[in-house]
Amino acid sequence: MRQLPEKVVLMKEGGRILTTIMSHVLSNISVGTTGFDLEKIFAHQISQAKVHSAFQGYEGYPYHLCIGVNDMVVHGFPSDKKYQNGDIVSVDMGIIYKGYYVDMARTVVVGEDIHQYQPFIEAVKKAHFASVAQAAVGAKVGDMAAASQQIVEGEHPYGVVREMVGHGVGERLHMLPDVPGYGKAHSGPVLKEFQTLAVEIIAIRHKNPAIKTLSDGWQTKSVTGEVCAIYENTIFVGKSGGELLTGSRE
Ligand code: MF3
Ligand code: CO
Repeated sequence: MRQLPEKVVLMKEGGRILTTIMSHVLSNISVGTTGFDLEKIFAHQISQAKVHSAFQGYEGYPYHLCIGVNDMVVHGFPSDKKYQNGDIVSVDMGIIYKGYYVDMARTVVVGEDIHQYQPFIEAVKKAHFASVAQAAVGAKVGDMAAASQQIVEGEHPYGVVREMVGHGVGERLHMLPDVPGYGKAHSGPVLKEFQTLAVEIIAIRHKNPAIKTLSDGWQTKSVTGEVCAIYENTIFVGKSGGELLTGSRE
């Protein structure tokens, strides 16, 4: 195995910690759980792991977690509302470990999948991994974007949210380049070896992916009222495709 730059080694360690915290938080989701419960669990986990929250205070964001329930898209605030059987919940979290940010999001169904959201969630996950597969040295950001759009909008009648995109990540939470989930192959910046990216596919289960921002300036909902799903990992650009720094191939 070739030598990884120190930054990538540290982000891999941070990514492992974040992945463990994510599993822990997700395993606590069931009927009756609230966003505040998850926020508390995350706060406890980061203090145990001696890492910092990446989102709280970021441009004034008031919480650790971004949680989207049903038609809530991104930057949803945790609340005291109890999750109901069949709700679809997206949990987005980030930490700072030894000076480096890592960022990750997953979407799950609460209790039984009575609304049959799982195929939608699987499609968004597949789109994410198609994008990651394109993250090879010398490829372009547009190659990643086109691969995920083809799955969400070509293979399925869903829509990729346009306003929120993946991003470079590492020394800061949001860095260049933008890494959209939609776009044209062979366009955009060329990917460099060991470049670290947050690949986030945010989709609505409707051909129209329009979103509206609520009066708090953060929370967003789908315009159609249809549900949202997110799949996000931090990766680095490898010789023959992206390599995961959070999550796993499962
Ligand atoms: N993963 C999301 C993003 O990269 C979460 C950011 S939330 C914020 O946009 F509060 F930090 F902005
Ligand atoms: Co992100």
